[in-house]
Amino acid sequence: MPKTENYLGIDIGSAHVRAVMAQEIAGEESLRVLGAVSMPSEGMRRGSVIDASAVAGAVAKAVSHAERMSGVTSDVVGVGISGTDIFCQKTLGVIAVSRPDGEVAEEDVERAMAEVEARVMLPSNREVLHVIPKSYRLDDQKDIKDPIGMRGVRLEAEAFVVGTSMNQMKGIGRILDQVGIRPDFHAVEPLAAAEAVLNPKQKELGVVLVDIGGSTTSVTVYEEGELVHLATLPVGGAHVTNDIAIGLRASIDTAEQVKLQYGTALPDTVGKREEIDLSSFDSHETESVSRHHVAEIIEARMDELLRFVNSELAKCGREGLLPAGVVLTGGGALLPGAVELAKDILRLPSHVGYPKPLGGILDQVDSPDFATAVGLVLLARERRKSHGNIAGIGFLAEGAKRAVPDWMLSVGNKTKDWLRKFLPLD
Ligand SMILES: Nc1ncnc2c1ncn2[C@@H]1O[C@H](COP(=O)(O)OP(=O)(O)OP(=O)(O)O)[C@@H](O)[C@H]1O
Ligand SMILES: [Mg+2]
Repeated sequence: MPKTENYLGIDIGSAHVRAVMAQEIAGEESLRVLGAVSMPSEGMRRGSVIDASAVAGAVAKAVSHAERMSGVTSDVVGVGISGTDIFCQKTLGVIAVSRPDGEVAEEDVERAMAEVEARVMLPSNREVLHVIPKSYRLDDQKDIKDPIGMRGVRLEAEAFVVGTSMNQMKGIGRILDQVGIRPDFHAVEPLAAAEAVLNPKQKELGVVLVDIGGSTTSVTVYEEGELVHLATLPVGGAHVTNDIAIGLRASIDTAEQVKLQYGTALPDTVGKREEIDLSSFDSHETESVSRHHVAEIIEARMDELLRFVNSELAKCGREGLLPAGVVLTGGGALLPGAVELAKDILRLPSHVGYPKPLGGILDQVDSPDFATAVGLVLLARERRKSHGNIAGIGFLAEGAKRAVPDWMLSVGNKTKDWLRKFLPLD
């Protein structure tokens, strides 16, 4: 029997909790999806826990369902962290090269990254999750991608420090404790989604991933293969639903059904006389409403949301300037007309982002709203790779770290432990 490893990714969103179980079989290139579950979520708002027992219930159901579907338990568990508490800060770390002959060693790079982490002036209520190397400077030479083996005296590392509030980490931690899950790592969700849907060419050319969730929209920009900007906006699909509920004077449930069945962000594509019979969703309702009017409500909110996205692009100087365009993920990407509106407002090519093809019951995760959970299992595999071979025996030789995405390498506090354990860092 070939060796197998099972990876579980858990995306705790404000609208849904998603769990994906995928298996790696020694000798096979792609993972096999064995279980994929999406459960309605309540009790999360903008990444923070509002009602712990409701969230814990949804997480427990999603995970046990994914385990039942797959018939396996997980070897590596990755949990996503999302929401408006996420921060991303560019920081410098400077060290003196330690070898007398001035040759930069792996250990110097590690120290420079540790300096970045130490230097980041965080208020004490924030927690660092990832330190993502951007570039290095060795004496007068700038923009070095890999300084190892070069010679110099002063090594400067520039990196993005990404993290969230301690409150959020504690909230998620309590939920996971309650359901008996001990995550092996946490990853910021927009970065996990990018792992699942973006390819190196898009990242090289310049691309923005826009994940439209229930209560948040994340904006992640890459260029020349590097992360350029990461922001989370406090608006998502639930705001569209709320607007419909107010506009139609209908319940939230009815408004959500109307949106899912008849919604579009392009009123011009809807005939002025098309009517939606609300009594088909709720027997207490007697009215019919204009589908064109519903589309106008949706367009107004989506227009505003996409203008906020554009402001983020302007903040990092990339407004209208990303050749690989806009990739939409999250449930909001399924709204008809979202792509066209994004094209129009962001003045960029736009399309829906689907997770990279995997084996197994692929159709279950072949949707933009599964991007984050699939990204988490892909990261779980990368993490395992850094551990050595599939059976976890020994370390990979020099270069092992390069098998792991850069941004997973140098990370704060708890997550660092696994690096210390699995990589020859010390
Ligand atoms: N076919 C569809 N048309 C329009 N909207 C949709 C469709 N499918 C899902 N949505 C919307 O997508 C949103 C949920 O997206 P998703 O499941 O990605 O959110 P989440 O990850 O739970 O939230 P967050 O990322 O904000 O924590 C909801 O507002 C839902 O109405
Ligand atoms: Mg989400």
